[in-house]
Amino acid sequence: MSTTEEQIRRRRTFAIISHPDAGKTTLTEKFLLYGGAIQAAGMVKGKKNMKHAVSDWMEIEKQRGISVTSSVMQFEYDGYCINILDTPGHQDFSEDTYRTLMAADTAVMVIDASKGVEAQTKKLFKVCVMRHIPIFTFINKMDREARDPLDVLEEIENVLGIQTYPVNWPIGSGKIFRGVYDRTKEQIAVFSGENGKQEAHADYAALHDAKAKNLMDPDQYEKLLEDMELLEGAGSEFSQEAVDHGELSPVFFGSALTNFGVEPFLRDFLNMTSPPLPRQADCGTIDPFDKDFSGFIFKIQANMNKAHRDRIAFMRICSGRFDKDAEVYHVQGDKRMRLAQPQTLMAQDRETVQEAFAGDIIGIFDPGIFSIGDTICAPNKKFHFEGIPSFEPEHFRLVRQIDTMKRKQFVKGMTQIAQEGAIQIFSEPDSGMEEVIVGVVGVLQFDVLEHRLKNEYNVDVKMEPLTFQFARWVGNKEMDLKTLDLTSDTKLAQDLRGNPILLFSSEWNIRWAEEHNKDLILENFNRN
Ligand code: G4P
Repeated sequence: MSTTEEQIRRRRTFAIISHPDAGKTTLTEKFLLYGGAIQAAGMVKGKKNMKHAVSDWMEIEKQRGISVTSSVMQFEYDGYCINILDTPGHQDFSEDTYRTLMAADTAVMVIDASKGVEAQTKKLFKVCVMRHIPIFTFINKMDREARDPLDVLEEIENVLGIQTYPVNWPIGSGKIFRGVYDRTKEQIAVFSGENGKQEAHADYAALHDAKAKNLMDPDQYEKLLEDMELLEGAGSEFSQEAVDHGELSPVFFGSALTNFGVEPFLRDFLNMTSPPLPRQADCGTIDPFDKDFSGFIFKIQANMNKAHRDRIAFMRICSGRFDKDAEVYHVQGDKRMRLAQPQTLMAQDRETVQEAFAGDIIGIFDPGIFSIGDTICAPNKKFHFEGIPSFEPEHFRLVRQIDTMKRKQFVKGMTQIAQEGAIQIFSEPDSGMEEVIVGVVGVLQFDVLEHRLKNEYNVDVKMEPLTFQFARWVGNKEMDLKTLDLTSDTKLAQDLRGNPILLFSSEWNIRWAEEHNKDLILENFNRN
């Protein structure tokens, strides 16, 4: 039996971020393969299902009851207990995707070697930077024609503004992608393997060993020596401290499809990343090794099925050990309780959890009492973890109820769904809720809203597109909003909690507001 401290020390909790199609699902699956959680690749189907059209997606949600598929996966590798958090992409991209990053200690950024940094990666990256968490980069699809590795690194540095340190270096690309050179060990790993369904076979050789030359084409060997010379002269120095602060990203190359480079990445990444990190609360820093249990809710998944109004709340455990039968304290609800049906999640399977430790993510049954950001801790404690911010929505619509007799249900539905965090609602100061501006991060949320208002609240709504594209909270609370000098198509509104927010139609309008209101501070997330 290992102690709680040992259990926490071996935990690694990270989120994988990428632009759709860069290979996040494939890489996750290969991690599971190397961890022995699956026997052959091609079994993780959860996310693929989510790529269907909206109507299919709703059907899937309904059939599945509560959707938890592949939100979190836990598996073991080399003595580590790993929690991977999925950050949904495509149509199911939403504010939840951002919130998931609040629960991670590290991010793995998967980049397509032929495409470089893409739009969605940029958005997710911004959230990681806000948290100063370590960011590791996996440059994927090296088995296809790829861009020059130095070019891709330069793009990461210029576009994302983070220094890079290649921990390994690719040997060739496309059909002649052979493997990777480990710069620390000064060792070449050349891979072979049929189809990527099973682990790839690796041959190793020291860089200057005669065997190394036999493992690859002579010109590949020459190129590798040249590249190394170039990197030693011009590249960044490695600093674990800079990695820990999210200022330097260790970079790895490989192909998730063929498994070439997957295991070296997994192994080095786990060694370089840290056990669960301390978290900020109103009473100070909470140490993960504190003997008392604590955690916070970062995501609530409502049931799309009308017959089951229950929800699942996802909790990140921040300190100590969680025991299924122990009494806990829900701080925001000021209530002692036992958490119902706590479960760990592994792809499509859910298992009741008896005990869990700092770093773990568990799902708990929510009869409607939890909100995003709530703290749950040992009954002898009372503190709040730092709240989860609201993130800037990118799509806006004006929502109105069709039958004005149903005003009460409309207000109730809109407010409850907004409180759950599925949408954000904005209104003009001092206006009623006749019509409401709804802002979302991913457009699918509009369909979810319409579906839920009809099914759960019996309200039909009409939605009109709005031209706003950006929202910024007013950072300086003392500002006299009446004196703001804004373009006519900029709107001043307030969010659900009464915080002032400006809605803009273009970046040009944002700059205009900043230039004409020298004291104005604009923020793209809000913690209040
Ligand atoms: P995502 O989760 O980031 O959206 O990407 P996903 O893993 O679903 O991969 C997107 C596509 O890229 C898939 O092909 C996948 O097989 C392919 N892919 C992933 N990693 C690699 C790699 O290292 N090399 C190559 N050549 N391809 C890779 P698809 O045709 O869309 O799907 P499938 O039918 O092959 O599964």
